[in-house]
Amino acid sequence: MKVLVIGSGGREHAIVHKLRKDDRGLELYAAPGNAGIQLLATCVPIQVDDLEGLLKFALEEGIDLTIVGPELPLVLGIVDIFEAKGLRIFGPNKMAAQFEGSKDFTKAFLMKHKIPTAKSETHTKLDEALRALDRFDLPVVIKADGLAAGKGVVIAQSKKEASDAVTDMMANQVFGDAGSKVVIEEFLSGIEASILCFVDGHSIVPMQPAQDYKKALDGDEGLNTGGMGTYSPSKVIDEAMMSKIQRDILDPFILGIKQDNINFKGILFVGIMINGDAINVLEYNVRMGDPETEVTLIRLENSLLDIIEAVETETLKDIKLTWSSSHAVCVIMASGGYPEAYEKGKKISGLKEASDTFIFHCGTKMLSGDIVTNGGRVLGITSIGRTLEEAREKAYDGVAEISFEKACFRGDIALF
Ligand SMILES: Nc1ncnc2c1ncn2[C@@H]1O[C@H](COP(=O)(O)OP(=O)(O)O)[C@@H](O)[C@H]1O
Ligand SMILES: [Mg+2]
Repeated sequence: MKVLVIGSGGREHAIVHKLRKDDRGLELYAAPGNAGIQLLATCVPIQVDDLEGLLKFALEEGIDLTIVGPELPLVLGIVDIFEAKGLRIFGPNKMAAQFEGSKDFTKAFLMKHKIPTAKSETHTKLDEALRALDRFDLPVVIKADGLAAGKGVVIAQSKKEASDAVTDMMANQVFGDAGSKVVIEEFLSGIEASILCFVDGHSIVPMQPAQDYKKALDGDEGLNTGGMGTYSPSKVIDEAMMSKIQRDILDPFILGIKQDNINFKGILFVGIMINGDAINVLEYNVRMGDPETEVTLIRLENSLLDIIEAVETETLKDIKLTWSSSHAVCVIMASGGYPEAYEKGKKISGLKEASDTFIFHCGTKMLSGDIVTNGGRVLGITSIGRTLEEAREKAYDGVAEISFEKACFRGDIALF
């Protein structure tokens, strides 16, 4: 069986690694992949937004199943294009991918189906958006409606910051078209978590939750990043909370998509804010998170292909997910300067996997025989252990072996 994985990050490396672990006989391909994925799969230099190129490759190569890692091709409608040609592809179609492609689409859905979420207004006219700010307390949250590579949300502490953000998005188009519509939202405090789920249109099955660390620096200081580390299972979400999430947030999602005729098949990532008893949805994503995937798939005992098949045949309710009793910790090594400007092309040394430690490549490439940095987040050093402490120690032992110029990482992943 030939399987193509679309993407080039740690998430896709973890997916390829899991597929390879499940079934040694698979013929794996990745587009475009990276220097780590290359050791497990044949990488083809096709970019994730080149839908025609990907389709042509899948048809010519006789790919049996395509798994889409990142959101961009999903939002652009890759699933519809592949399915129109009779190809199997895992992920939501263009209509359903709006849960990530449009924050306004999601807010309207959440409110219609009474799923708890922060109070908000959506605006398409600058003057009306500026006036709307008066109706919100500070801090206030300003969100560009469309995809903005994780940079489209501003938490404004002052009136001026809020009106600047609205003006930048709507008039100065700093996020292009993505900011022509803005969502202005009430600020929620609390602890953030994300729940990743498999969805077949009728059932929604959550994976064991992972906890992530979004800030660049120790002690949750510094700028927001794509994620500097994760651990699983989460200490924040216990079984009682998970049942509440299922009842108040996940089950109503299924009822809502059925009522609205949205055919959602794939992965739903539910970002939530927990404050005591109150659990609010912050956003939906329509794919796995990175680096949540690294610590999640490594503990999943079912075959990923079995689950994907159950999603396709709408028999997810018959699948029971089973998880290793181990703990997993992922520490991201990033390029100095990230999430702001950073340099690429730094030679990486010390890349040697130890037992129970896996080095997932997030942003790397081969350059004349060397593996070099090729992104802000470079590697996700992921370890498993009998306890969280053991996993954490092994992951940091792994980090200590690896070096590249200006490498940086947090020292407190899985400590709190
Ligand atoms: N209403 C809110 N209250 C407080 N913080 C928020 C709110 N909405 C978003 N955030 C913060 O901003 C981050 C990014 O927002 P999110 O809606 O997840 O958009 P995206 O991931 O597309 O940038 C969240 O992870 C959270 O930390
Ligand atoms: Mg988010």
